[in-house]
Amino acid sequence: MSEKIFRSPKKKGKMAVFLSGRGSNFRAIHDSILKGKINAEISVVFSNKRKAQGLKLAKERNLNTLYLNPKDYSSKVDYDKTVIQELKKIGVDLICLAGYMKILTPHFCQQFPHRIMNIHPALLPAFPGLHVQKKALEWGVKYSGATVHFVTPDVDMGPIILQSVVPVYQDDTEETLSERILKEEHRIYPEAVKLFFQGKLEVRGRRVFIY
Ligand code: GAR
Repeated sequence: MSEKIFRSPKKKGKMAVFLSGRGSNFRAIHDSILKGKINAEISVVFSNKRKAQGLKLAKERNLNTLYLNPKDYSSKVDYDKTVIQELKKIGVDLICLAGYMKILTPHFCQQFPHRIMNIHPALLPAFPGLHVQKKALEWGVKYSGATVHFVTPDVDMGPIILQSVVPVYQDDTEETLSERILKEEHRIYPEAVKLFFQGKLEVRGRRVFIY
């Protein structure tokens, strides 16, 4: 059976950014757009948290925002179906999860194959999930880093687009390690989005090729 190949579109794209907190990765992506480095616009910044700092930042930047309260829905699938409807109305080409701390349902992921990216503060497949820097310190790894990957129903296990490595020092705390990794996140996430809309990403099975 021949392998299905996905090539990212070369076009001016419409993006959605999903966040639940501070929004520093959203800011890094938006700054890159404002500098003309990414051929896309952010059509909506979406959150499951009304008080997310990132949502406030998006409003200050005059971006379209959307908040939906998960408690207003009878199930996770119902919630995601409403979000999907909103995104399809806009016609988004790419969804960037930027500290979105709610697991997407498989139904959601299946609606946007190779159209959802996530940033994770570790070198996947090591340390998926939460409290990642704590786990890295406890394990005693000498290097950690950041990963941008496509999102599939297997949480934190989709095809890897870009990674960046940072050293772990003996006197590191969760805070100092997180800070070192975050710097790299802010560099590689905009880069991955840029490559996507330059039509330079090709996914073959688990592997992402950059042209
Ligand atoms: C970032 O460190 C991101 O990698 C992490 O949440 C933080 C959000 O920061 N995401 C995950 O852990 C996802 N599993 P930000 O709101 O300042 O972008």
